[in-house]
Amino acid sequence: MRTPIVAANWKMHKTIREAVDLTRDVRRALLDVQGIEVVLCPPFTALSAVRDTLGGSWIQLGAQNMHFEEQGAFTGEISPLMVAELCQYVILGHSERRQYFGETDEGVNKKTKAALAHGLIPIVCVGENLEQNRAGQTSAVVGGQVRAAFQGLSRQEAARVIIAYEPVWAIGTGIPAEPADVNRIIGVSIRGVLAELYDEETAQAIRVQYGGSVKPDNMADFARQPEIDGALVGGASLKADSFAAIVKATLV
Ligand code: 13P
Repeated sequence: MRTPIVAANWKMHKTIREAVDLTRDVRRALLDVQGIEVVLCPPFTALSAVRDTLGGSWIQLGAQNMHFEEQGAFTGEISPLMVAELCQYVILGHSERRQYFGETDEGVNKKTKAALAHGLIPIVCVGENLEQNRAGQTSAVVGGQVRAAFQGLSRQEAARVIIAYEPVWAIGTGIPAEPADVNRIIGVSIRGVLAELYDEETAQAIRVQYGGSVKPDNMADFARQPEIDGALVGGASLKADSFAAIVKATLV
């Protein structure tokens, strides 16, 4: 049995003060919740304050990106050593990073290895864009991204990775993918590829989230699908009540 995991990707939102307020409210709203992992991923500037606000809570902390080198002349970058001082998780290869910041499959692979080497759990994002979806390339694109991200990872390393399947056309559009389609794509194009790369047991052990216009009123439909192990939530994670409702709907 895989423990469900819901992560909040705050993207480029929230000042330190706003982040602390939101964290306090999320913490309060989830006090009585059990049987699920929850990760908050604020912007870098708020990580330290959110970590303090979470002190003693079961809610965990993640970064939204990082460089693969430990240190050096990389102005503006944050290293795995620095992320690991504060966080347990790191989102890697988000489609916005691939789309706007030139992130490649090869870079995502380097970052995934670096995260694991520093004891971080990578949340590796994959997903096809609208054009690829319409051209019937979803399986090839998603399978290819999974193969590239896991290149050179041992079975033990692979089992620690979390995958977020986020169809690009569903992100921030209010148009989520169909839960049954997501279930099929995860089963065939993600777990199928993982079983080829490793074995069936490893493929079944790796947790796969869905992301893209997840809201309180559609989460239960995703959570009921056997291949979906939680969600990576953008817009609806920016308010404590909607994020808490999504976490609770995951357990229905
Ligand atoms: P939305 O939930 O706003 O669609 O964003 C999804 C996402 O990109 C999470 O990483």
